[in-house]
Amino acid sequence: MIIQKSSNPRISSFDPTSFSFGNTFIDHMIICEYNNGKWGDLQLVPYGPIGFTPAMMGVNYGQACFEGMKAYKDKDGKVFLFRPEKNAERINKSAKRLAIPEIPKEIFMEGLKTLVDIDRDWIPHGEGMSLYIRPLLFATEEALKARVSEKYLFAIVATPAKSYYAAPVSVKISDHYSRSANGGVGFAKAAGNYAASFYPTQLAIEEGYDQIIWTDDSTHEYFEESGTMNVFVRINDTIYTPKTSEKILDGVTRDSFLQLAKRRNLEVVVGDVKVSDVIAAQRNETLKEVWGVGTAVVTSIFEALGYNDEHLLLPKLSEEESFAAMLKKDLTDIQTNQAEDPFGWRVLV
Ligand code: COI
Repeated sequence: MIIQKSSNPRISSFDPTSFSFGNTFIDHMIICEYNNGKWGDLQLVPYGPIGFTPAMMGVNYGQACFEGMKAYKDKDGKVFLFRPEKNAERINKSAKRLAIPEIPKEIFMEGLKTLVDIDRDWIPHGEGMSLYIRPLLFATEEALKARVSEKYLFAIVATPAKSYYAAPVSVKISDHYSRSANGGVGFAKAAGNYAASFYPTQLAIEEGYDQIIWTDDSTHEYFEESGTMNVFVRINDTIYTPKTSEKILDGVTRDSFLQLAKRRNLEVVVGDVKVSDVIAAQRNETLKEVWGVGTAVVTSIFEALGYNDEHLLLPKLSEEESFAAMLKKDLTDIQTNQAEDPFGWRVLV
């Protein structure tokens, strides 16, 4: 591994009590180039721009995918990654679907651990605090032919993070747009999935909502995801979540919630979540909670659903009554080393 440390580190001017998610970057980043059919040296370099031309294939044809993951600092200053191997596996599932060469797991893990270790002072400690880490893979060949690129870059950048959509949000159930289709790339963390979500989300924002609940592309009768999150619904005391498929991202936080719910002996149904059942439950007052989960947000509790022209309010549950809040606490206590980790999810850096 080639290490080139920053000669002008910014860490001394970083204020962990005042920063915004995604705009502040740690002092270093990881890069690794793919050329002539193989990955080159892993490099740790100062964070900053890298030059490309507008003819770069990644920006023309969207051959790009990424991951989202976090590192946490406990009260004694110990640093942990959360289930990093899941991200190492998933980036390669995304890569395969986008015809991007897979990044060997050892390169991914070595880059990740070296970056987090060298910039550990950037990881804020405290409620909701973490380092959000963004590994990404994209096509860098300078060529305009619509074909698979011959050059790529693997990079890892990171930003200090605090709670993302902290306040309860209202979500519009999509009756027209969808984020994925059978045979498509919905399961992948493909950059284009996010690009295609922005316009419908903008329309929902204009209608007064914060996010969209994505429904299936053919009937719009089934929940798939919400915003950039997996979605959970609680009717009475049963939790429902859509089964992952080629249309739905296999979220690490989603999987963690399912395992935590099982540990608490909660009743969980993983399968079809019908819009009409959720609406009927809202009307007969058995719908208790709807929430989204994802790495960035951890948990986002929904306060209202937009359904056709109706604005349907959800109950306001206390922390003690909410399954979402309870499972979020179970999860963050493990992530931040405040609870035992029977699952072996924490990885010490
Ligand atoms: C994540 O939760 O890691 C995401 O991908 C959301 C991100 C687009 C901010």
